[in-house]
Amino acid sequence: MKTKAALLHQPGKDWEIAEIDLGDPVGGEVQVRLAASGLCHSDEHIHTGANTVPTYPVIGGHEGAGVVTRVGPGVTGLREGDHVILAFIPACGTCRPCSRGLQNLCDQGASLLTGLAIADGTYRITVGGRPAVAMCLLGTFAPYVTVNQSSVVKIEQDVPLETVALLGCGVSTGWGSATEIGATHPGDTVVVVGVGGVGINAVQGAAHAGARFVVAVDPVPFKRAKAVEFGATHTYSSMAEALEPLRDITWGLLGDTVILTVGEMEGDLLQEALSLTGKGGQVVVTAIADMTQIDAKVSLFELALLQKRVQGAIFGGVSPRTQIPRLLDLYRRGLLKLDELVTATYKLEEINEGYADLRDGKNLRGMVRYTDVDY
Ligand SMILES: NC(=O)c1ccc[n+]([C@@H]2O[C@H](COP(=O)([O-])OP(=O)(O)OC[C@H]3O[C@@H](n4cnc5c(N)ncnc54)[C@H](O)[C@@H]3O)[C@@H](O)[C@H]2O)c1
Ligand SMILES: [Zn+2]
Ligand SMILES: [Zn+2]
Repeated sequence: MKTKAALLHQPGKDWEIAEIDLGDPVGGEVQVRLAASGLCHSDEHIHTGANTVPTYPVIGGHEGAGVVTRVGPGVTGLREGDHVILAFIPACGTCRPCSRGLQNLCDQGASLLTGLAIADGTYRITVGGRPAVAMCLLGTFAPYVTVNQSSVVKIEQDVPLETVALLGCGVSTGWGSATEIGATHPGDTVVVVGVGGVGINAVQGAAHAGARFVVAVDPVPFKRAKAVEFGATHTYSSMAEALEPLRDITWGLLGDTVILTVGEMEGDLLQEALSLTGKGGQVVVTAIADMTQIDAKVSLFELALLQKRVQGAIFGGVSPRTQIPRLLDLYRRGLLKLDELVTATYKLEEINEGYADLRDGKNLRGMVRYTDVDY
């Protein structure tokens, strides 16, 4: 079918709205009419070229939810009319990590940035006859997507799709960075560095898990004010500014977990985060760096003698099929804030404005809504 999408012809250019040819679902795939897509910083990395894909154009977007409109052969457990969240990480259920309960490490994730469909290794989208990469095998900057069933989590129909789309990336990633990878315990001190669409959920995850101190660090005053609404006990504009007060309030113990959710990860940030981490504590690296970046500043002496850890995190260590339904349950019970995360909505045509607002620190999460326009 023909539909339109926000696509990028080369790094550095603006997102451009153009007609795309979206393939019909083949074996194991479904087509979904989206209600909304979140504007995550990971697409900004594609825009800047910090992260690249093998061929262009690329259809952006990897945080969506909608209604199944077509079902390909061999699909199990999904039918037309089902409400679904698209998780940016597929979960096949049978590979080694999936069967160990680590769906966020599913082997099918290997093709995330290639654009090659899990089902048959071909491209599902063409633009003017040329193959196009769908970001994270989703490409949610389009009102319709054709995706593998591995990327689809069926949900109950009582929750607003326009909002729960955020569980496809930012909420799960941030919450899980604090609760799963961060393994926050009651009484812990958790420092979240970078309070955007991901970090704000690390703040609310840490608070929910019973952290005594939830310290939010962000240079933007609006983000710091929001962090308090989501459970932060203290806020600072930089890690340097946070160090002394953190030492003071924790009686020298410092952070049990320091979570890096800044827009762009840089090697120098690692040592600053380690300095905020107490003995036996860990730095969780959720933020994504330039793909070619291999240098980092780390006191190796401190790392060994104070038994600190540096821990990466993909999708917050959250298994989409088990934990997205649980997070929805927390939302229903008022224990997980989702509506409050959406600080601006945009039409697809306004996507460059949405990303300008992300760069300017104006949003917790901006959302493209497809329900306001007849696409
Ligand atoms: N690992 C994963 O699974 C995963 C998933 C989604 C996103 N990400 C990554 O997480 C990061 C955050 O994404 P987002 O959508 O929340 O971005 P965002 O732009 O919404 O938020 C980033 C925040 O970091 C703040 N910031 C920037 N530099 C800072 C610094 N030096 N100290 C403190 N704060 C700083 C900004 O003011 C902003 O509020 C990105 O790198 C994104 O690619 C990772
Ligand atoms: Zn994302
Ligand atoms: Zn798997």
